[in-house]
Amino acid sequence: MNAPDLFPPAAACGQPHPHESARAQVGGTATYVDDIPELKGTLYAAPILSPVAHGRLRGIDAAAALQQPGVVGLVTAADVPGDQRFAVTAHDEPIFAIDTVEHVGQVIGLVVATTVNGARRAVRQVRCDIAALPAVLTIEQALQAQSYVLPPVHLKRGDAPAAIAAAPHTLSGEFSVGGQEHFYLEGQVAYAIAQEQDGWLIHSSTQHPGEVQHWVADALGLDHHHVRVECRRMGGGFGGKETQAGHLAVWAALAARKFLRPVKLRLERIDDFMVTGKRHNFLYRYTVGFDDRGRILGLQLMLASQCGFSADLSGPVNDRAVFHVDNAYFLEHVEIDSYRCKTHTQSNTAFRGFGGPQGMIATEAVLGDIARHLGLDPLMVRERNFYGPPGRHVTHYGMAVEDNIAPQLVARLAADSRYPERRARIEQWNARHPVLKRGLAITPVKFGISFTATFFNQAGALVHVYGDGTVQVNHGGTEMGQGLHTKVCQIVADELGVPFERVRITASDTSKVPNASATAASSGTDLNGRAAQFAARQIRQRLAEFVAQHQGCDAASVVFAGGKVVTPQEARDFGDVVHAAYIARVQLWSDGFYATPKIHYDKHTLSGRPFYYFAYGAACTEVVVDTLTGENRVLAVDILHDVGRSLNPAIDIGQIEGGFVQGMGWLTTEELKWNADGKLATHAPSTYKIPTAGDVPRHFKVALWPEPNREDNVFGSKAVGEPPFMLAISVYEALRDAVAAVAPERREPVVLHAPATPESVLSAVRTRRAP
Ligand code: MTE
Ligand code: MOS
Repeated sequence: MNAPDLFPPAAACGQPHPHESARAQVGGTATYVDDIPELKGTLYAAPILSPVAHGRLRGIDAAAALQQPGVVGLVTAADVPGDQRFAVTAHDEPIFAIDTVEHVGQVIGLVVATTVNGARRAVRQVRCDIAALPAVLTIEQALQAQSYVLPPVHLKRGDAPAAIAAAPHTLSGEFSVGGQEHFYLEGQVAYAIAQEQDGWLIHSSTQHPGEVQHWVADALGLDHHHVRVECRRMGGGFGGKETQAGHLAVWAALAARKFLRPVKLRLERIDDFMVTGKRHNFLYRYTVGFDDRGRILGLQLMLASQCGFSADLSGPVNDRAVFHVDNAYFLEHVEIDSYRCKTHTQSNTAFRGFGGPQGMIATEAVLGDIARHLGLDPLMVRERNFYGPPGRHVTHYGMAVEDNIAPQLVARLAADSRYPERRARIEQWNARHPVLKRGLAITPVKFGISFTATFFNQAGALVHVYGDGTVQVNHGGTEMGQGLHTKVCQIVADELGVPFERVRITASDTSKVPNASATAASSGTDLNGRAAQFAARQIRQRLAEFVAQHQGCDAASVVFAGGKVVTPQEARDFGDVVHAAYIARVQLWSDGFYATPKIHYDKHTLSGRPFYYFAYGAACTEVVVDTLTGENRVLAVDILHDVGRSLNPAIDIGQIEGGFVQGMGWLTTEELKWNADGKLATHAPSTYKIPTAGDVPRHFKVALWPEPNREDNVFGSKAVGEPPFMLAISVYEALRDAVAAVAPERREPVVLHAPATPESVLSAVRTRRAP
């Protein structure tokens, strides 16, 4: 009997399984931190925010606040028993402002009360006595003052100045790209509950429970094993809960310790905007030399980013920007200067793409400028610069690009989206329409997968099989809507040959899997999926040996599929086999551990193989611009994206669509504006515009590249969380293409500052038309 034929693999992997929480979320029964039933006596905190961007903090007057009904007291720096600073590498961020404040919205302390509104009302009565000092509020000011959170980083290969000097053409330019608020639907929140004997339980909406544990322990002056952090799910993280969830947890824990009561801290939306960091905005200056065909010969690029008042993740974010300046292109002679500017604003942090988008857009913009300068099609210029055969296949940081599919993928997308015909049609259309101008662009993505800090690329998992043959899995990753838990359940289901429904995930919990890395860098499934697979595999092997022993067959001949355990002699239900194994005292649970192979990277020289592989994609975007008002719309988007062999096409396509739309928001409508006094003016949905359902392009087609990962990755899949975000650079390039059409004969760069709000587009149109 041929077992695999009898039981065709009703495999879970590769199927479009709905998200494991979808029904509960739609039905309103999925639990977020603020839904957890509260313990009796729970108190609520509200943060006291600095109204001044930079100043000496002389004191606070909370007398009026303390008179308010239900107020139990204040928490300030004086109430921190452990380290006064958050346990970050740079060690540069006080838990509560000590004697200086460094941005409007910096947390000086907490008001704690018996109700949420009581705390929020009372906090408005607190008066801060601050002597203002001069503030650095913009990248330009920081560059001038050489105000940096970390020293500048320079990376060079070859001799860019000589290559530029010898090039037949050169261009120089300057432009800027704005930051982005995460706008997770569930805001930052933590609930701290004291346990017996100095133990702590923290419910945190966090991408990194292990770091929250570490921070809370340090602030309380305890060892790590005193603190347990749990997170069932987040209502979105997008990088904003990679470090900054830790702040809330520490604040709540300090309050809970002071008042010996459970304390919950949930920021209201405006406070979330004022307190937490965002995507780094960037300023670029470049000089490029190129040949008649548009090939880059030499590139000098300055990247300067606004980091805010502390380092947070600005080091690795800016490093990733430096690593992604090449995007899909070979830069033979290149010089990059990366400045990590310290400003008196919120401390900017991880955000989907983690600096990658800010690195890539620079070279994409340069290539668009080169094409217009030479009067060539931008797609052709891009294709001519792609990584290619040996000699043109090593990145500027010394990593060989071994899996380059950008040329084939882009060619296929250009054909499927009928790029050449549409390009011709748009040119005719623009010639006939003086007010509305259309634009079209294809841009590729090549995104490095792995944490650049090599040691983060490890993961653990626990799989439990219960006596009835049902399975529980736990791993170090966190769920933020991206579908990680669903994919891990699929992987475990297939490893044990049981239906998806038999596998249940449990909340991320530092007491189950320790020392877990952040769920970030898109590597959640690669790392935790593999760890869970290895855990399940051990249980399967034990079961196979148990069955083989009884039947006198070879353990390798035992097949687990379709909820059955099949040997040459018989097929039994998985549950029956498990029960028999339990009676026979076989261990039915296991841990699993995974560390990404092949990667290594020298932080000081910025060289090595920081990435296990690259994820690729490309988007073709058509836009229309109203040249009288600057208003613009994305009309049509075709995407071809590489997720390797898809673990779950429904989730992967959702990630691609969501990532693209979020990227589109970054580059078009989401504008962060600080007043002259350093106060963020766009701090609510009324003034900060994220895309809505109505902004989704009418024609929005996503296709998956049909090739497995060439590296040995779980199920042949590739990471998908961040790479599609950068497909939205095609929106920016299409908008510049439309703006260029107001004066098609001109050869100079189209200067379009992002986000391309109507105001920004209008100013680009005016510049283009100016004599
Ligand atoms: N998708 C949803 N729905 N919500 C999120 O918060 N975060 C993104 C991406 N996709 C996010 C998301 C970011 S920034 C990352 S790094 C990855 O998901 C993290 O999850 P993964 O590693 O499991 O892909
Ligand atoms: Mo994602 S920015 O790596 O959390």
